[in-house]
Amino acid sequence: MTKILMVCLGNICRSPLAEGILKSKVFSSKALIDSAGTGAYHNGEKPDIRSINIAKKHNIDITGQSARKFVVEDFDEFDIIYVMDNSNYDNVIKLARDENDISKVRFILNEIFPKENLDVPDPYYGGDFGFKNVYKMLDEACDHIATKINKNG
Ligand code: 4NP
Repeated sequence: MTKILMVCLGNICRSPLAEGILKSKVFSSKALIDSAGTGAYHNGEKPDIRSINIAKKHNIDITGQSARKFVVEDFDEFDIIYVMDNSNYDNVIKLARDENDISKVRFILNEIFPKENLDVPDPYYGGDFGFKNVYKMLDEACDHIATKINKNG
């Protein structure tokens, strides 16, 4: 059982989508998947309606999710922590206690473009196109992650 945490800033746009998409691709017995934000602005809220809608278009229901802040204990709970962008990376790394914590943190787009540390752009202040674009990137990245998980567990 691989435990995976998806992290963005608000935990209402990108990481809830990443959580929903990956859950739709892996055998549930092989992975536990959750998401969190480095900021607490939206604690307890459902995902952004634009994320809910783009997920729904692909037959994925993310309405049951609730935003929460990333906490240091997440380093103990999860095996892999995928961040959406460089700012998320810096914020998560600041909380790392040791090399083992640091080794768990990965850029999600490195699954498609290894070592490039590319950002999944924050779609919060844009229109629907940004969400479509984010969906496409996360879908492709999650395909790579799911292939590994479903093969190895
Ligand atoms: P997310 O997007 O990090 O993908 O959930 C954002 C959501 C909210 C805010 C920023 C980014 N905000 O500033 O409230």
